[in-house]
Amino acid sequence: MTDRYAVIGNPIEQSKSPLIHTAFAQVTGQDIEYTKVLGPLGEFAQTVDAFRAAGGQGMNVTAPFKLDAFAYATDLAPSAQMAGAVNAMKFEGGKVYAENFDGVGLVRDVVHNLGCPLKGKRVLVMGAGGATRGALLPMLAEQPAQLVIVNRTVAKADELAALGNKHQTGQVPLCGLGYDQLQGQQFDVVFNATSASLTAELPPLPVSAFAPGALAYELAYGKGLTPFLRLAKRAGVTRLADGVGMLAEQAAEAFLWWRGVRPDTQGVIRQLTVPLV
Ligand code: ATR
Repeated sequence: MTDRYAVIGNPIEQSKSPLIHTAFAQVTGQDIEYTKVLGPLGEFAQTVDAFRAAGGQGMNVTAPFKLDAFAYATDLAPSAQMAGAVNAMKFEGGKVYAENFDGVGLVRDVVHNLGCPLKGKRVLVMGAGGATRGALLPMLAEQPAQLVIVNRTVAKADELAALGNKHQTGQVPLCGLGYDQLQGQQFDVVFNATSASLTAELPPLPVSAFAPGALAYELAYGKGLTPFLRLAKRAGVTRLADGVGMLAEQAAEAFLWWRGVRPDTQGVIRQLTVPLV
C-alpha cells in the first residue's frame, strides 16, 4: 500500500512541499503519495486526526499551524522545543513525533550547497522571531567566531541571545543588538530572518556591516532580489542567496526522518530557483 503524507496549512495552494517530496520519492524509488491539506482555522487537531485515521503517516506543517502542531505533538524533538514550533510530524500508533527542520535545513544549505562553512565566521542574523529562534542552535553548533542577533526591538534580540546562551554547548560569543549598534562592525555572513521581505521592507542595516567576500542570505524564498539582497548588492556583495536551498534541505531532512533515505536536493533546487534579479 502506498504510504501517505501531506502538508497542512491555510492557505496551502502556494506550498511547494508536494512537488518537492514527489520529486524526492522519484529519485529514491520510494512509494509515497504526498498531498496538500487545507486546514480550516481552529480545526487543526480534527483535520490531522482525520488524516491519521485515513492512514496518513506524516505531515509537514506550515502557517498558521506551527504552534498548533507543537501543542498536538506527544513527543517533541529538541529542535522543535528550541524553535517553539513544529514543521514536521510522524505518526506511529498513538504517538505524534514532532520536529523542526528549518534550522538544520538552513545550515546545511549554507555549509553544504553554498560551500560556506560557518566555523570561525562572524555571523549576523537580522530578526528575532520564530525563524531566528529555530536557526540559533544549528548555527551555534557550527562554531562561528561570533553570532550577533540584531533586531528592531532590542529586548527580543537580548531574550533570544540569552536563550541561545542557556542551551549552547560551545563557547560561541552570542549577543543581541539594535541596528544602531552595528556601526563599525563587519560580518562574513549576514542572514535576513526578518519578515520584512514579505512586505518589501528593508531593515535599517548599515551597508558597512558586510565584510569583504561576505555572503548575504535571504531566508525568504522566490522573491528575486529583495530590498535586503539589493542593499547587499549595492554594498558590493557578490555572494547572494535566498531560501530555496533551505526549503529543499528542510524537506530532505523530513524525508530522511520518514523514509530512512536522504534524497539528493540538487534537482529540486534547480527546478525551484527563481533568479536573483
Ligand atoms: P517569523 O516567525 O517569520 O520569524 P515573527 O516571529 O513575526 O516572524 O518575527 C518577525 C521578525 O521580523 C521580528 O524580529 C521583527 O522585528 P520586531 O521584533 O522588532 O517586530 C522583524 N521585522 C519585521 N518587519 C521588519 C522591518 N520592516 N524592519 C526590521 N525588522 C522587521
